[in-house]
This record gives sequence, structure tokens and C-alpha cells, in this order.
Amino acid sequence: MSFCESIIFGSGEIYLPDKEPLMKKAFKQLVFLLILVVAAGIGFLYSGFYDVAATAPHSFLFKEAVEVLVDHSVARRAADVKAPAGFEQMDIEPGFEHYDHMCVGCHGAPGVKPMDITRGMNPEPPDLAKTVKDLSPAKIYWIIVHGLKMTGMPGILEVAGERDRWQIAAFVHRLPQLTAEKYRTMRAAAEGHPHHHEEPHQE
Ligand code: HEC
Repeated sequence: MSFCESIIFGSGEIYLPDKEPLMKKAFKQLVFLLILVVAAGIGFLYSGFYDVAATAPHSFLFKEAVEVLVDHSVARRAADVKAPAGFEQMDIEPGFEHYDHMCVGCHGAPGVKPMDITRGMNPEPPDLAKTVKDLSPAKIYWIIVHGLKMTGMPGILEVAGERDRWQIAAFVHRLPQLTAEKYRTMRAAAEGHPHHHEEPHQE
């Protein structure tokens, strides 16, 4: 019996000799491809081709991908954060003192330039008075408390207690409405009494 005859007459059933081997072959090719991709990835890491220089711009694709990653990671984690009652009306002076002590060097403030060296950071710390409008109080709080990996943005979890954290968040939330004049006034008022903050404690 020829091969064809065996297919047609062989057992009375439709026999598809190639079906399984074909899938097996495709599977093997897929695994091979996967190994190739992983090997190429590892090769790339070891090759030194990627430019880690902060002075070199991020590629468009990398930047977009990281933005999506950060946005969604922050959104997911901030979902459980609830601003305390009266957050919108909170006094901004206590938050100002912490901000002026810990943050203004990188982010600047109305009428205050960030340190020159921040221009060498990549990403550069944003002007919060401009960017923070897009962030909910929960997201602002979460970012301040936990920071953002690989950006230079530190988290204050270990250095500030719950009350201080919300005070800073309230201040940052109101930054877009703050004038340079008001910032200067608060600085003048704060001069003379030293900066202090409560001991941090874990939630
Ligand atoms: C060493 C510099 C540095 C210090 C100090 C610092 N930050 Fe940042 N901050 C950054 C960088 C860099 C980013 C990330 C920018 C990015 O992702 O493009 C950032 C991001 C943020 C964001 C998110 C802004 C946005 O538009 O998405 C907030 C809010 C913020 N910082 C608040 C603070 C506060 C409040 C403090 C002080 C407690 C502080 N930062 C201290 C460098 C700093």
C-alpha cells in the first residue's frame, strides 16, 4: 500500500500523518526562537552597547515604556491611600518647612531655582508647581513616601512620620497656587526656628 492509499484506505478513519509532527515542529521552533531572544537580551546586557550616561537622552521607546510602567504602578499602589479629612484645608506652613528642607534643592519652588547639578540628572526633577496638577493627593502622597526607583526621587518612609508626610503632600498639592512672594514670606517666618520633625514609624 502506498502512502496515499494508507491515508485513504488504511483504517477507515481519516489519518493525518503530518498533524502532530507539524505542531511539534512549530513548538520546537518557538522554543528555539525564545531561547534566541533571551540569549540576545543577555548578550545585549553584557555587550556594553546600552548608554547609561545620564547626559545622553533616553530613547523615545524606553521613555514611553517607563512612563506607562510608572503611571500604572503608582496608580495601582495609590489606590489604597486615602487622604485624611480636611486635607484640602490643611495648613501649608508645616509642609513648607519640610519641603524647604528636603525637596526644594531638586524641585525648586515659586521664585526658587533648583540646584544647578539637577540639570545633570536624567530624568531631571520636574518643576512640581507645573506638573503636580495631574496627580491626585493619594498619588502625590504615595510618590513622596515611597519615591521612584532609578530616577533619583527618594522616598521619605524612613525619615518622616505619618503626620509630616501628609503635611508635605498637602503643601505639594497646593504648590501650583503658591506665589514666589508667599514662598519668600514663609521662608522669612521659618528663619530662626530650627527645622524639626517627628520620629518616623511604620504603618
Ligand atoms: C535628589 C533629587 C530629588 C529630591 C531630593 C526629591 N525629588 Fe522628587 N523627584 C525627583 C525626580 C528625579 C523625580 C522623577 C521625575 C520623573 O519621573 O520624570 C521626582 C518626582 C517627584 C514627584 C512626581 C512628579 C510628577 O510630576 O510625576 C513628586 C510629587 C515629587 N518628586 C515630590 C518630592 C518631594 C515632596 C520631595 C521632598 C520630600 C522630593 N520630591 C525630593 C528628584 C528629587
